[in-house]
Amino acid sequence: MNPMNHTSGGGILIEGLRKVYGSGDTAVEALKHVNMQVAPGEVVGLVGPSGSGKSTLLKCLGAIIEPTSGRMTLGDEVIYDNGWIVRDLRALRRDRIGFVFQAPYLIPFLDVTDNVALMPMLAGQPNARARERALELLTALDVQHRAKAEPSQLSGGEQQRVSIARALANKPPVILADEPTAPLDSERALGVMRILNQMAQQAQTAIIVVTHDEKIIPTFKRIYHIRDGQTVEEAGEGRRL
Ligand SMILES: Nc1ncnc2c1ncn2[C@@H]1O[C@H](COP(=O)(O)OP(=O)(O)O)[C@@H](O)[C@H]1O
Ligand SMILES: [Mg+2]
Repeated sequence: MNPMNHTSGGGILIEGLRKVYGSGDTAVEALKHVNMQVAPGEVVGLVGPSGSGKSTLLKCLGAIIEPTSGRMTLGDEVIYDNGWIVRDLRALRRDRIGFVFQAPYLIPFLDVTDNVALMPMLAGQPNARARERALELLTALDVQHRAKAEPSQLSGGEQQRVSIARALANKPPVILADEPTAPLDSERALGVMRILNQMAQQAQTAIIVVTHDEKIIPTFKRIYHIRDGQTVEEAGEGRRL
């Protein structure tokens, strides 16, 4: 099946996306013409050298910055078409996109459980149910024994696993992960990829993982290479986890 053939039915579709930072002599064309498609239930890799536009692409798709032109579709809804179509970008980010950053950005004065439970609470879940969901995810990510600790008491790898639990908490249809396994050892990095793949299959989540990590690159069935702001698609090994 060529995934470029279907343009609806969920997932992510990016067409001719362009992003220019600044203007005039100092303008930087970070994305020239990006095309990308991720089906529901699919985990794709996004690989490219430093400065090639990977973070810019995730930030555009996550409605953190505004593209210059092109089109982006999430699920069956066009969210951007040479301008935002979706009015409430904050609700879009909260309910439909899970972010995993390279640095965990946990809230220092909340314990681990509440760092994760906060997301379903903000989306209107009762506190008890939100904490139940948090514990379920912390268990899946093997950090449940740190549930009552504060983020500063955790190792870097534990903090990263908590931030992944937080990204999964609202069962968003889309997850965007920017170098999520960089601070993790080999076994934990593969563990994270296993969870993302399970999540993709069970909840039909479309997932993009930006990475340089040689440990996880063989796990992708499909990889997009980005160079000078343009993407090229390639088949991956799709090694079983
Ligand atoms: N806020 C910004 N203002 C101006 N230029 C930027 C900004 N953010 C990124 N860039 C430039 O855009 C290009 C792509 O950056 P980025 O998306 O961060 O690449 P990557 O994540 O692949 O390393 C680089 O040339 C970078 O210097
Ligand atoms: Mg980057």
